[in-house]
Amino acid sequence: MSARAPTSKLRLGVLASGRGTNLQAIIDAIEAGTLDALIAVVISNKKEAQALERARRHKLTGVFLDSKPFAHEANSREAYDRAILDVLQKHDVELIALAGYMRIVTPVLIGAYPNRIMNIHPSLLPAFPGLEVQEKAVDWGVKIAGCTVHFVTEGVDEGPIIIQAAVPVLQGDTADTLSARILTQEHRIYPRAIQLYAEGRLRVEGRRVLVAGASESPAGPLISPSL
Ligand code: GAR
Repeated sequence: MSARAPTSKLRLGVLASGRGTNLQAIIDAIEAGTLDALIAVVISNKKEAQALERARRHKLTGVFLDSKPFAHEANSREAYDRAILDVLQKHDVELIALAGYMRIVTPVLIGAYPNRIMNIHPSLLPAFPGLEVQEKAVDWGVKIAGCTVHFVTEGVDEGPIIIQAAVPVLQGDTADTLSARILTQEHRIYPRAIQLYAEGRLRVEGRRVLVAGASESPAGPLISPSL
């Protein structure tokens, strides 16, 4: 994939199912001027999603798209994604950001937006794909956890990795305390990943995402527990 030519403000479509703190981080970064994009539309599959309330509060277009009317169709997931696609295209969305979107995205969307859908996941992929991953990290006894922003491909949580942040897992951690520590980093790296895209600095080569002008000065290893 070649990089985006940054000629105008990147038009984002955000898909969210829940509380929407990652959506909020994106909104905050735009308002702070650190993310050069605009949110063209926020779409949720949950009517009561706090993400839609956040959209309203910031005078963004929010759309609730119920999946129930599609449930009886033969390919209900694809039919639903066609409806999503319709909304995204009506708003001239260039990049889709999944922000706590708890549905599997089908080839209908992926085909229309190849390497133009990002997802944030609360683990250091490829470790712990799927759900309840912070709990799994605690249960496994890993010492370092984190979060990942990646492009979305057909395999769940398998797409090319754009940026990751690592955090230590502490001895007394529960899934909740670890989730909170990871979430703080999610809010930093997601707007950053989108900004890199907006600046046309991301190029996908096979599994790898090359970041033009990335600062690769070594930050030092994260050792947990520390030495
Ligand atoms: C975030 O932790 C995000 O990484 C996770 O859901 C949470 C949504 O929080 N996403 C996934 O697990 C996707 N597989 P938010 O609604 O406050 O942004």
